[in-house]
Amino acid sequence: MKINGKEYRTIWFDEKNQTVKIIDQTKLPHQFIIKDLKTVKDAINAIKIMKVRGAPLIGGTAAYGIVLAIMEKNDPNFIKKSSEDLIQSRPTAINLKWAVDRMMKKLSEVNNNELLKVALVEAKAICDEDVKFSENIGLNGLKIIEEIYNKKKDTVNILTHCNAGWLATINWGTATSPIYHAHKKGIPVHVWVDETRPRNQGANLTSYELNEEDVPNTIIADNTGGILMQRGQVDMCIVGTDRTLSTGDVCNKIGTYLKALAAHDNNVPFYVALPSSTIDWDIKDFKDIPIEERNPDELTHIEGLDKNKNLQKILIYPQKSKAMNLAFDVTPAKYVTGLITEKGVCEASEKGLKGLFK
Ligand code: MRU
Repeated sequence: MKINGKEYRTIWFDEKNQTVKIIDQTKLPHQFIIKDLKTVKDAINAIKIMKVRGAPLIGGTAAYGIVLAIMEKNDPNFIKKSSEDLIQSRPTAINLKWAVDRMMKKLSEVNNNELLKVALVEAKAICDEDVKFSENIGLNGLKIIEEIYNKKKDTVNILTHCNAGWLATINWGTATSPIYHAHKKGIPVHVWVDETRPRNQGANLTSYELNEEDVPNTIIADNTGGILMQRGQVDMCIVGTDRTLSTGDVCNKIGTYLKALAAHDNNVPFYVALPSSTIDWDIKDFKDIPIEERNPDELTHIEGLDKNKNLQKILIYPQKSKAMNLAFDVTPAKYVTGLITEKGVCEASEKGLKGLFK
């Protein structure tokens, strides 16, 4: 998708410099900076401090992390340790483990002298596949938006939480892909963008990327969705997911659950968009999902431009107050209207998911 009119992906391999390029998302929307990842440590760090974030993109970054590890030291112990460190870098999104396991399986099938070549091909394949998944999610979700538009004959208002946009994937996004497809088809859409405290991925990333594609959107405080739904100003919600259980329960950015409850109470359809790489077929009880707890600094401090347009970080809470920063919550399947996947839309249940993914 576009930034300043130029097409980008969120991650790519720079053949000339033999580095991995990423867009530093900690600086958006105020600064657009492309960074080089040169070592597996760079990749781990970028995931941890969220220069890259969003489940599919951290999967893609982990895949390229393995490439960087091989480039550093073609030694089986080092590569294995690197793969474990990559998986540990953020605990909730299953794509990390999915991508690393896939890379390691592929590498186990080839000779040492072929490792780098094969790893590069596989990392690119993971990223290219994700683009295809996201595009198909868009085409499948487009049908739902079209249906609402055909009934309403007026702008379709869609609420989203966090950033499950193209910046969270390799391209297109998951939750935003149906929106981009509808917009490109000329269906009038407007997006209510939850700010998404504490890191403001909605305001800083979703609104930013929608602006760059000229999709009308309005940022709202996280607690505003409820009244908008009561007033009939939300036609549907679409969110992403970091881990979808085979039961249809969905783990996503903190606050998603409360939005699903409000949608349920107001008969607003609540859809979750996901590529199959975010399905966890093993865990059955959502209480077993590891929920990331991040540094409370992300709550107590806020970053923005001062009057001289310099980025500043300031304390906004009482100095003595404690803060707690859980990064994800779980929305039980009963509140999910449907799962929009690359293979079609299904019920949020084992039956629904197994119907699409045998
Ligand atoms: O903490 P983040 O910014 O990595 O969280 C991202 C989300 O919660 C997204 O909704 C999810 O990863 C899906 S991305 C297509």
